[in-house]
Amino acid sequence: MTQDAQDQESSHQSDSTHQSAGWQDRCIVIVGMTGVGKSTIGTHLARELDRKFVDLDQYIVDNTGRAVSQIFTEKGEAGFRQLEAKALAECLALGADVVVSTGGGAVITEENRTLLTQGPLVLWLQADLDDLVHRTSHEAERPLLAGNARGVLQQLMSDRDDWYRQVADLSIVTTGQHIPDVVKTLSSLIRTADDRTGSEREPGQVLMRQHDQDGAGHTPLIVEQVQLDHGRSYPVLVGPGARQELAALIPDGVRRVALLTQQGIDVAVDPGVDHQVFMVETGERAKRMSVVEDLARSFAQWGMTRDDLVVAVGGGVVTDLGGFVASTYHRGIKVIHVATTLLGQIDAAIGGKCGVNLPEGKNLVGAFWQPTAVICDTETLLTLPSREYRSGLGELAKYHFLGEPGQGQPLDELGLAERVAACVRIKADVVAADEREGGRRAILNYGHTLGHALETASAERDQGVYGIRHGEGVAIGLVYAAELAKALGRIDQARVDEHRRVVQGYELSTALPEGSDCEALVQLFKRDKKAARGITFVLDGPNGVEPVGIQDEGVLLDCLHRMNKSE
Ligand SMILES: NC(=O)c1ccc[n+]([C@@H]2O[C@H](COP(=O)([O-])OP(=O)(O)OC[C@H]3O[C@@H](n4cnc5c(N)ncnc54)[C@H](O)[C@@H]3O)[C@@H](O)[C@H]2O)c1
Repeated sequence: MTQDAQDQESSHQSDSTHQSAGWQDRCIVIVGMTGVGKSTIGTHLARELDRKFVDLDQYIVDNTGRAVSQIFTEKGEAGFRQLEAKALAECLALGADVVVSTGGGAVITEENRTLLTQGPLVLWLQADLDDLVHRTSHEAERPLLAGNARGVLQQLMSDRDDWYRQVADLSIVTTGQHIPDVVKTLSSLIRTADDRTGSEREPGQVLMRQHDQDGAGHTPLIVEQVQLDHGRSYPVLVGPGARQELAALIPDGVRRVALLTQQGIDVAVDPGVDHQVFMVETGERAKRMSVVEDLARSFAQWGMTRDDLVVAVGGGVVTDLGGFVASTYHRGIKVIHVATTLLGQIDAAIGGKCGVNLPEGKNLVGAFWQPTAVICDTETLLTLPSREYRSGLGELAKYHFLGEPGQGQPLDELGLAERVAACVRIKADVVAADEREGGRRAILNYGHTLGHALETASAERDQGVYGIRHGEGVAIGLVYAAELAKALGRIDQARVDEHRRVVQGYELSTALPEGSDCEALVQLFKRDKKAARGITFVLDGPNGVEPVGIQDEGVLLDCLHRMNKSE
């Protein structure tokens, strides 16, 4: 995504205004593709919120005495849609008594879309194509899908996704999710929005956002749920204004919240309980043991107990530090990350790794400490210095090559918030499979071996001043990893070109920085902390991206020379 795209997003974001009244009277409507789980989530959510569950198709059947297929035969689709619009209007009039689940095609007509954007809270459920094919394959009464379910579903998704997006307030991917956890997050968000109505405090009220007149540029709040083992999970909220939902994520029993942040990060948050702001210095220097001690002592002097919580508002430095202090204070208290850099949102805040630096090296003291929740408010990225944003784009480029083939939408096709959410999902999937970095998690280092070497080389040359930002190094590292994979016969030229296209698409360099010393870079590969047993590169190949041991240093050097524009 270019700076232009970022600017465009910002103009869209300023379009979304917020309503403050009448929430109690609103009904909740669930939209999404056939087979996505609307009835299951609707039933659970209705129970949780003490509402009645209404299946819109069943409502039509009950009121007409005819099966949906019979109505289609007798009156055609247009006739059915008329009945559907009438039924929808009747259900909306029931207000907060109901949770309504619609048929997959309910967003097709303008009449229904207008109804949906005028009153209810609309939840858009999504699932990966493979998942939809699997879920609908067991259902005999879907004649539309007979023969070529995958092709039909794919076409329907591409036809309808923009309409779903237009009407939705919240968007949730159900693939791989433990439904009760998703419902718990949703009901907590909805209840807190309820509580706010009529109160004097009027934060952005993301859940009750007005829709733009034509629906253009509207971005639903996206709810991701990171699943861990032993039934643990936590929500990640993504989208413009998501920070307004912080209070909904504060667990019961928390009396005090320590807000950790830095000068220059002008992101106001309100946890809804007693809180105090703790400022830390900017830059890597903040990630040191003496800062941990200072913070812990300040927490103790303020009277924070083991039931209280840290909210880290900032980039990877603040979330790494905040997570680590939380992991040790009182032997571990809860932490919520409000990530305010692109790198923080798609990487540092997700996955539970946290820590501080020692003079002997980066991140040498740390912990695995999973947050209670993460907020990725894309609005906060608007104040990010452009160099920091570009650095995040390097990590974003990496995710283009990590997703499972056939799952999710290609990142290229998504807007900023959805792209961030897709990266969160990919990282969450990897973390779920390998929470403590035993194996698979290594793929998250795709592009990083050369990236780290370039960072170190530039730091050594500039005596500690980083001439190249982390993500810029990763971007070059991705292209290098592709060249290496091709030289080893793992991928073809077209795939190398794909890497170059993605990196260039983010306006990042694909060549080594001017004056790079290729021999010195190979020596740095050997010093990489992840290279304990010889040089290992994460490389693309027939099985996707995976760690590969490299025996032949010559090939490393050859590929570097090829990318060295100063030679
Ligand atoms: N734990 C993990 O899994 C993980 C993963 C990747 C990186 N990291 C760590 O993350 C750190 C780098 O994070 P980063 O790139 O976010 O850098 P950072 O946290 O230093 O933030 C970059 C700069 O942007 C400022 N800033 C942050 N948000 C802003 C906003 N919204 N508006 C204006 N200014 C803002 C910060 O104050 C800082 O000066 C490193 O320490 C790295 O080790 C951790």
